[in-house]
Amino acid sequence: MRTNTAPVIRLEDYTPPAYTVRHVNLDIDLHAEKTHVIAKLSVERMADIAVSEPLWLDGDELKLVSISVDGEKLSASDYTLDDTGISVSNLPATNEFQVEIETSLAPEANTKLMGLYLTNGVYCTQCEAQGFRRITFFPDRPDVLATYDVRLEGYKAQCPILLSNGNPGETGASKDGRHFAHWHDPHPKPSYLFAAVGGDLDVLNDSFTTASGMAVDLNIFVETGKAPMAAWAMDSLIRSMRWDEEKYGREYDLDVFNIVAVSDFNMGAMENKGLNVFNDKYVLADERTATDADFANIEAIIAHEYFHNWTGNRITCRDWFQLCLKEGLTVYRDQEFSADERSRAVQRIQQVRTLMAGQFSEDSGPLAHSVRPAAYKEINNFYTATVYQKGAEVVRMLAALVGPEAYRKATDLYFERHDGEAAVVEDWLAAFEDSAGIDLTQFKRWYAQAGTPRVTARGEYDADAKSYTLRLSQETAPTPGQDTKQPFVIPMRFGLMSGAGEPISASHESEAVTGGLIVLDEAEQIVTFIGLNERPVLSLLQGFSAPVRLDFDESDEDRLVRAAHDSDQYNRWEALSGFALKQLAAVAGNPKFDFDSRLIETLAATALDNSLEAAFRAAAITLPSEGDIARELEANIDPDAIYAARSELAKRVGGTLGETGFALALQLDESQKSSDPLQAAAERSLSTALWQLLVASEVKGATTAVVETHRASLNMTVRLSTLSTMLRSPVMADESAKAIENFLSEFTDEPLVIDKWFSVQAASPGEAGLKTFETLLNHPLYTLSNPNRARALLAPFAASNPTAFHRADGSGVALFADTIIELDRRNPQLAARLLSLMNDWRKLEPVRAEHAREALSKVAGSTGLSVDTQEIADRALA
Ligand code: TRP
Ligand code: ZN
Repeated sequence: MRTNTAPVIRLEDYTPPAYTVRHVNLDIDLHAEKTHVIAKLSVERMADIAVSEPLWLDGDELKLVSISVDGEKLSASDYTLDDTGISVSNLPATNEFQVEIETSLAPEANTKLMGLYLTNGVYCTQCEAQGFRRITFFPDRPDVLATYDVRLEGYKAQCPILLSNGNPGETGASKDGRHFAHWHDPHPKPSYLFAAVGGDLDVLNDSFTTASGMAVDLNIFVETGKAPMAAWAMDSLIRSMRWDEEKYGREYDLDVFNIVAVSDFNMGAMENKGLNVFNDKYVLADERTATDADFANIEAIIAHEYFHNWTGNRITCRDWFQLCLKEGLTVYRDQEFSADERSRAVQRIQQVRTLMAGQFSEDSGPLAHSVRPAAYKEINNFYTATVYQKGAEVVRMLAALVGPEAYRKATDLYFERHDGEAAVVEDWLAAFEDSAGIDLTQFKRWYAQAGTPRVTARGEYDADAKSYTLRLSQETAPTPGQDTKQPFVIPMRFGLMSGAGEPISASHESEAVTGGLIVLDEAEQIVTFIGLNERPVLSLLQGFSAPVRLDFDESDEDRLVRAAHDSDQYNRWEALSGFALKQLAAVAGNPKFDFDSRLIETLAATALDNSLEAAFRAAAITLPSEGDIARELEANIDPDAIYAARSELAKRVGGTLGETGFALALQLDESQKSSDPLQAAAERSLSTALWQLLVASEVKGATTAVVETHRASLNMTVRLSTLSTMLRSPVMADESAKAIENFLSEFTDEPLVIDKWFSVQAASPGEAGLKTFETLLNHPLYTLSNPNRARALLAPFAASNPTAFHRADGSGVALFADTIIELDRRNPQLAARLLSLMNDWRKLEPVRAEHAREALSKVAGSTGLSVDTQEIADRALA
């Protein structure tokens, strides 16, 4: 396999296809060792293309049986075949012709999980981004859109269910105990949206009537016996379909909508037209086996894939550089859906925490790239936090800049203009420019410039002039390949308060305002408010209205006013957690520094404040993670110092909560049994946060109470959070060892719960945590061949357990690197993704950084490495 010599693909080199495919007739004869595929392509030569121009068909690890054009078998001189595809020459002079290709492939040997593979006895496909070329030779690029007729054949006993995209057609028996099913998809689609499934699956069925009265049959196919566990996914699907009609005017467009849950899947889910394929982790749920976070993820991902039907499928991407066009927009859409279904403020807090943990670290390290990257070697490596999460933030900023009505008008125009097309980011922006009459030339920099802008804000009150002057500036550090940056358009929502926390009004640009939007679009800008009889407390970047780091020199006193009174719930959370973060970073940097008692008191008071919603209180008292603190420190990171600071703060807050907090936690554990599901989940999140603090400070009775709660509960959220609390407590080693053992025997037959069992232990800190990790790597239930299981151990270890992962002797990263090399031989896409978790190694203190560099170098230098993993390792080291 070729490694760092793999070619670089560039956006600027884009050329339209010379030939397109109008219709595909696909016949797939399913056999585990040798699946036979016949593809009949109706090919059309594009205008102005010479007859002599060859037809390029991508192919990857396929065996070509035969190829013919207009019924004539090609001879060896008519085409050239290499390990990336076929180039066909001597084509007919007519502009339209038929190409027929026979291939064979081995699904059971497909460990990459791209193309057609077997998972738990079920045939399934994954074609995004470039998996279709592993099923047949094809111009496998998203700007070639075709309608599809598919015939699937398989053994009736092994594959009673045969599914593909679109609407069902004829079915019938074939010889040797086999049967077949036809599917027709009338909507032209790129090959990456193709899907086929064959297996013995149970189904949960429901129906949906669209706003215009069309009945849609809804099916969720799952492993035998698990149909009841798809109920929440089905409920989420129905709510998503309604929401897209109401909020975007988008209706579904086929007679059936099918979802299949499989147990081996590289990512979360895939939006194949009319046939979404899901990682079963994001479909199956009941209270006994799934956590509240799982329920929320299922809701969000079901919505995400459903929303792709319009943003991604009806309007697709011209090339893979435009990935954010479908992903950023669809993430924004699913975020807004979740915000409408749940607490908007708490959703926003979680979104921002996710953004900062994944995207901000990506954006400040060697893997930084723009929302629309300009070049790649392996496209699978660009399904990143930047494309997805920052891509969503860019859409959110657009919505904020134009307002809700203009946003809806713009999206209506976008759908009207580009339905059935493969579009580019410019088309999306043009819909806004044309419908809202704005110029987005400068805004477009968000798509092209990488890096997180740092906004500095300095406010000054002039009592004589009764004015408040805010000096804003923005700066973005260089990122790989981009030395200088131009100013971004940064929408900053703000509010003004008095020192007592009351909203106050000022005159701004001759308008009376208590809040609004400042658009920072220059390197430096001055904003003045007049008519202020007192110094205002400014709440800036409300709702996190732009993906920037804000450096505002507000006093701790102002922060505390905002923590208690900010009219924006998100900023109220930010005031408090930002205060905690600042202090944690200070203590981690210098253990002589002591925590401000006001921080500890405010955290405890917030936990106990019944006037606030429980989920908000939970978010407020969940201390910043070790990763958050590391990001705040920026350089010379010592994970042990961070851990010590965080533990100390937990101890202090727990101590302040004391008996009252203890009583509240017990009461919450009781009341969960009655209230409505979202409220119960919110209460569980608060009790979890409380137990963590109370156990950390060894409040009397807390450890026994946690053990008791763990034992008595039948709810997975409670079981798992209490287990995690025990594992983090140095004084509960015996109890947690016993609980770990019992948990394993209780859930041996539930793979998704066993994954959690691995994950919760992979987060055990320190030297003991590393030992646990090593033991678990060799556990009989651990395997690298199931992505969920592989990730369950490797992801939490590398992403959120720095005291074990980055041991000062380098043993943690070395073990991780060896495992990645092994995983890469089976599943390069997964190996590369997991390796990218090491991207912030340069911020570590020198000894640990050197160990990380060695581990990465070992990966980079190992022979036979995939293009995927090679690209990540090389970029991480560059
Ligand atoms: N398009 C999918 C989504 O965001 C994700 C996806 C891309 C994917 N490539 C994949 C899923 C490969 C599985 C395997 O919804
Ligand atoms: Zn998506």
